[in-house]
Amino acid sequence: MARDPKYDILFEPLKVGPKTLPNRFFQSAHCNGAGSDRPGFQAHFRAMKAEGGWGAVSTEYCSIAPESDDTHRVSARLWDEGDVANLSLMCDMIHEQGSLAAVEIWHGGPNACGMESRVPARGASQIGSPFAFMRACKEMDRNDIREVQQLYVNACKRARDAGFDVLTIYYAHTEALLHQFLLPFFNRRTDEYGGSFENRVRFGREVLELVREAVGDDCAISVRFGIDTLELPFGLGDRGIRQDGEGLQFIEYMDELVDMWDLNVGNAVEWGEDAAPSRTHPENHERPNVYKAKEHTKKPVMNVGRFTNPDTMVDVIRSGQADIIGAARPSISDPFLPKKIEEGRLDDIRECIGCNVCISRWEIGGPPLVCTQNATSGEEFRRGWHPEKFTQAANPDNDVLVVGAGPAGMECAMVLGKRGMRRVHLVDAAEEIGGHMRWVPKLPGLGEWARVVNYRRIQLDKLKNVEVITGSRLDAQGVLDYGAEILVIASGSGWSTYGLQGITNEPMPGPDASPAHLVIAEQLRVEGKPGGK
Ligand SMILES: Cc1cc2nc3c(=O)[nH]c(=O)nc-3n(C[C@H](O)[C@H](O)[C@H](O)COP(=O)(O)O)c2cc1C
Ligand code: SF4
Repeated sequence: MARDPKYDILFEPLKVGPKTLPNRFFQSAHCNGAGSDRPGFQAHFRAMKAEGGWGAVSTEYCSIAPESDDTHRVSARLWDEGDVANLSLMCDMIHEQGSLAAVEIWHGGPNACGMESRVPARGASQIGSPFAFMRACKEMDRNDIREVQQLYVNACKRARDAGFDVLTIYYAHTEALLHQFLLPFFNRRTDEYGGSFENRVRFGREVLELVREAVGDDCAISVRFGIDTLELPFGLGDRGIRQDGEGLQFIEYMDELVDMWDLNVGNAVEWGEDAAPSRTHPENHERPNVYKAKEHTKKPVMNVGRFTNPDTMVDVIRSGQADIIGAARPSISDPFLPKKIEEGRLDDIRECIGCNVCISRWEIGGPPLVCTQNATSGEEFRRGWHPEKFTQAANPDNDVLVVGAGPAGMECAMVLGKRGMRRVHLVDAAEEIGGHMRWVPKLPGLGEWARVVNYRRIQLDKLKNVEVITGSRLDAQGVLDYGAEILVIASGSGWSTYGLQGITNEPMPGPDASPAHLVIAEQLRVEGKPGGK
């Protein structure tokens, strides 16, 4: 199918400094657990998104020097020539797909843990990190300022040599030293780098001038700018910045040094205001905090906001909110989102449900990412998994019985169907497929989680070799009588009703759901047990 002309605007190329973005889809910087030390994982993970039509694909935050070492968490690094060689594989593979490769240039000040390098942190002021606990820093003197600025330049040159087209200078989330210089929360200096707006911007402005001079002809320079650090209690209040105050002032002041603006909100302690869960934030939730920016810049602007609906994307561009659709989670959940819009296959889009299982991996230290919706995510290299292409099974001349049509059973039947098994029967005792995902999305705020079932239902309907049989409970004999050569049990589990405790493995006194006045959600929704008032 051809794409609907109303989406043409999403596929218009856009000049960004010396580079051309082939369409309006930009995978914003996000971690995946690969860093620079797992080049195959990194390259194949990012190239999958380029294959899926993302016009630009970025690394996660990428450390410029050992003093900005975030171990135990996993960031990319551009510390030396080894890192250049490792990350160049990602660039090459993205370029093969005709997309631009981006890298997020990062110095974390006291927010970088330094656990591997053991190099002391340097920061705007001698203020510890509210995030990387037990990490203090030295207030930078003038020599430090020149040295750290040179670290930025060196890393940007390495990034160019690795093949990156877009250098995203990290100025957001309070995660980046540059942002910290701007924010009174961190910057208590009394010299020409502290105090007034011009003084707090001076360090970053000098960095951008130096970087532009060093690589500005070769690479596009994007600034990922946290335009609004939000109100208390989720934000920094008076000690941060707001869009209507220094946020827009900053954009005007720095505009000449920037090729594009990548805008977002929030801070490191409150990630959830940027990578916001669907439970509390709708699609395009950052609009109130970013929409004024375009009136204050001559450069293209990108926003993020869990964009999965192409109509919302068109509206973002047409309404003058932004020029580029940035996405982290929608690109994880469906690396082929742009291509599906282009090919008019909207019902095949595997929409992110905003559950934040992906970002929770980083919160616990950065093991390889997983995604509720996209089981192949993170296995592109090691297992050669592809979210859209399925190899023929080695034993296709077999019938498969999948017992249980919850999330795992649905996924299993779908993949086996796509892998060409002769016949796949997906059987469930309930009248509807989905398992617990039949009722969980009916809980307050969890409506988007229904996408887990909806996507798979549509795919299963399209597969001629898969039959879905509901309202049929099978016991062991029934399974044997079924006669399938291959059996998959995916009958799931239920919530504990007696307070099983994860440390002692014994019931806790109190949370026992057998009395009439106590109830757990599953009893309420599935068994019809009456709730309280
Ligand atoms: C798993 C994960 C890792 C992230 N890592 C980074 C990062 O390294 N640097 C960064 O600037 N933002 C990071 N982000 C934030 C995203 O770039 C983006 O701003 C945020 O998720 C909102 O966009 P979305 O709604 O499209 O996900 C991360 C987000 C996720 C979900
Ligand atoms: S579905 Fe959940 S895990 Fe997957 S990208 Fe979206 S928020 Fe992350």
